[in-house]
Amino acid sequence: MTATRRLTAPGSGKETVHFEVSLAGSGLVYEVGDSLGIFPANDPAEVDAVLAAAGLSGNEVVESAGANLRDVLTRQMTLREPSRQLLAAVLEKCPEATELSELIDPEAKSVMEDWIDGREVVDILRAYPQANFTAEELVKVLRKLQPRLYSIASSPKAHPEAIHLTVAIVRYELHGRGRQGVCSTYLADRVKDASMPVFIHSAKHFRQPEDASVPVIMVGPGTGIAPFRAFLQEREVLGAPGKSWLFFGDRNRSTDFLYEEEINAWCAKGVLHRLDTAFSRDQVEKVYVQHRMRENADELWKWLEEGGYFYVCGDASRMAKDVDEALHRIVEQAGGKSKEDAAAYVEELKKTKRYRKDVY
Ligand SMILES: Cc1cc2nc3c(=O)[nH]c(=O)nc-3n(C[C@H](O)[C@H](O)[C@H](O)COP(=O)(O)OP(=O)(O)OC[C@H]3O[C@@H](n4cnc5c(N)ncnc54)[C@H](O)[C@@H]3O)c2cc1C
Ligand SMILES: NC(=O)c1ccc[n+]([C@@H]2O[C@H](COP(=O)([O-])OP(=O)(O)OC[C@H]3O[C@@H](n4cnc5c(N)ncnc54)[C@H](OP(=O)(O)O)[C@@H]3O)[C@@H](O)[C@H]2O)c1
Repeated sequence: MTATRRLTAPGSGKETVHFEVSLAGSGLVYEVGDSLGIFPANDPAEVDAVLAAAGLSGNEVVESAGANLRDVLTRQMTLREPSRQLLAAVLEKCPEATELSELIDPEAKSVMEDWIDGREVVDILRAYPQANFTAEELVKVLRKLQPRLYSIASSPKAHPEAIHLTVAIVRYELHGRGRQGVCSTYLADRVKDASMPVFIHSAKHFRQPEDASVPVIMVGPGTGIAPFRAFLQEREVLGAPGKSWLFFGDRNRSTDFLYEEEINAWCAKGVLHRLDTAFSRDQVEKVYVQHRMRENADELWKWLEEGGYFYVCGDASRMAKDVDEALHRIVEQAGGKSKEDAAAYVEELKKTKRYRKDVY
């Protein structure tokens, strides 16, 4: 990690951070549109809490993992959602804990899901100290820690041997306790200027058009801006002749306009031809990127009819669905099509790979 810069200004309710990672000597190469996979490490304080609750020191050797228990808990296991296997193992060791038998019943999946919500491995170990797991037994019933993906926010043509990321740091309160996202806080609080294990996740489905003269429409609110910053860097280096249009949104213009100066500079230089912003909390009514799309329906339709590519990046749960809905309505209204014909038009955009998504 070579640089860290907070993108949201003081007073913002969000902590969105720009990270720069050097690839020098790694042999890794990437293309615009790819993501960086990161293997995070757990917070040492959380590892200490689990060790204390389990009555173990951390120096125990875990033969199956080829490391001592502290290292295994730090690098290889998730300390978050307890697994069914952990509960079953506790029940086996503590037959008096009959409340667990209902939870691990495969027929009662939803009971288990409700109960487990917000509970962590340490909560189970604290509740049943008499379980007395050995280090091997404990590791066997924990889930594997998974790597996290981050859309790359830089172009290798502009930044050879470097990768930039745009990360929303996850911190929240649940059941009266502060919680933190494993990987985003690993990046923000723990890596510092050291090295970290990473891989490139190739995203052939999210490349720029092969023909650099066709228009691109990019919808990227919040951290969804990341790959479009990479697109624009690359378009600037290559002098791409096609038109480009960015829809960006976040909470407040004064604190959350990520990469504002760079984006304005691209507008001034003619790298970015159109910019529409939606700051959702600057007024009483919510304004989102899809509202800006709808306001510019005729122009957006024109760009699509000129062979434009439509890109969306960011939140999958609500934003991408609403943007998709807005796209359908635009094709229907500005394109003068029936609901069915508009759906067929959008389907065709997907089939011909002119509608590309990178959502999470
Ligand atoms: C292809 C792809 C690209 C991505 N690109 C980016 C990117 O460019 N930038 C970016 O920031 N992220 C990106 N992500 C998301 C990223 O991979 C991680 O999921 C994200 O950083 C959270 O990981 P974490 O380890 O910090 O949190 P985790 O430890 O995984 O915790 C996250 C979980 O915490 C819970 N949670 C979070 N907030 C709350 C709350 N307020 N209340 C209750 N529960 C809550 C939810 O269950 C959530 O799933 C991308 C994901 C994919 C798949
Ligand atoms: N735990 C936290 O405190 C916290 C904070 C931020 C993000 N996150 C999570 O981190 C991830 C990345 O966050 P992010 O910065 O990329 O984005 P984000 O915070 O989810 O949202 C960015 C912008 O999109 C708006 N938005 C919300 N719903 C939308 C919709 N249906 N359609 C269009 N726009 C919508 C938001 O408005 P409003 O927020 O005003 O509705 C905000 O202006 C998300 O998955 C999010 O859930 C968690």
